[in-house]
Amino acid sequence: TNESVNTNQHLYEIMNEASNFYQYNLFNSVSGERVLEYLSNRKLSNETIKHFELGFSPKEKDLLYQFLKSKGYSVSDMINLGLVKQSNDGTYYDLFTNRLMFPITNSFGKTIAFSGRTLDKNDKVKYVNSPETVIFKKGETVYHLAEAGLDIRKKKFVMLYEGFFDVISPYQAGFTNGVATMGTALTINQARLIKKTVDKVIVAYDGDSAGQKAIISAIPVLLNAGLIVEVLKIPDKKDPDDYIKEYGSEAYQNLLSNNVQDPYQYQYELYRENLDLNNSNDIKTFQANVTRMLQNASPAIVSLYTKRIADELRINEKDVK
Ligand code: CTP
Ligand code: MN
Ligand code: MN
Ligand code: MN
Ligand code: MN
Repeated sequence: TNESVNTNQHLYEIMNEASNFYQYNLFNSVSGERVLEYLSNRKLSNETIKHFELGFSPKEKDLLYQFLKSKGYSVSDMINLGLVKQSNDGTYYDLFTNRLMFPITNSFGKTIAFSGRTLDKNDKVKYVNSPETVIFKKGETVYHLAEAGLDIRKKKFVMLYEGFFDVISPYQAGFTNGVATMGTALTINQARLIKKTVDKVIVAYDGDSAGQKAIISAIPVLLNAGLIVEVLKIPDKKDPDDYIKEYGSEAYQNLLSNNVQDPYQYQYELYRENLDLNNSNDIKTFQANVTRMLQNASPAIVSLYTKRIADELRINEKDVK
């Protein structure tokens, strides 16, 4: 409601200050230079870095806290926003230190959360995320949707990715209509947000088995939101960022032209690949998967796959049914 937007005004202001602080620190600190080098190794230009308002959280334990305090913001707001924590000895420390920072915005383009990527290969936690707050509900947030809205409408479809770099690399290569779920299972609210912008989505999750599983669970959610769904298959277990870095943007365009499947075709082939006709457990799993896939499908699609299964498995259509 308008009322809650107004009462939360100062919270958005703090998040914006924090984002500016991280951005400033990326470009104007000695340790930021190493991060710029990391980004340049990942082939991101300064223009791209600025478009996505990437930043860097300093190594020191409480520089953001000190900065926000000097601006007159209250510690309780910083804590409620998940930016600052209090340790047992009563001192305050920043949640994000020594990380590449991605600001996450709401549908009005206001920063409501951050994700911080480690630059240390030995770090067990690759991404640290803001907790859920008064202004941040992860299941109701789609990364880069506000910023890409116009391009998505112009192109008449959205590319749905898992990760930040999968939005950013394609963007730099001219595929500016990308958004991301940020790794978690797609929710119906996220799907509805997408549907408010456009009618068609191409799911382009990572090509590894985790990505395949995530595609299978995202498909019914997207269909339930009334979206037209297609799936982009990324080869070699790569993610879109890896793929573009390795093969270039023309190859990515070729994938988009040649490696897209409708959601039934995609699922069916995946299930079929895993089916050994001599193994009764496999047959059971295949049956369960296909039945689930066709649960809410139209009669035409059900009949198409009934035929296909009958042909491929050499059984009667009646038995398939
Ligand atoms: N993610 C997360 N927390 C983790 C791991 C992943 O929140 N510990 C989210 C991030 O939004 C990430 C996405 O899930 O972008 C996809 O995860 P993954 O494929 O592991 O990371 P990449 O996006 O490929 O990151 P990178 O290329 O830097 O390895
Ligand atoms: Mn800003
Ligand atoms: Mn992954
Ligand atoms: Mn990935
Ligand atoms: Mn990646």
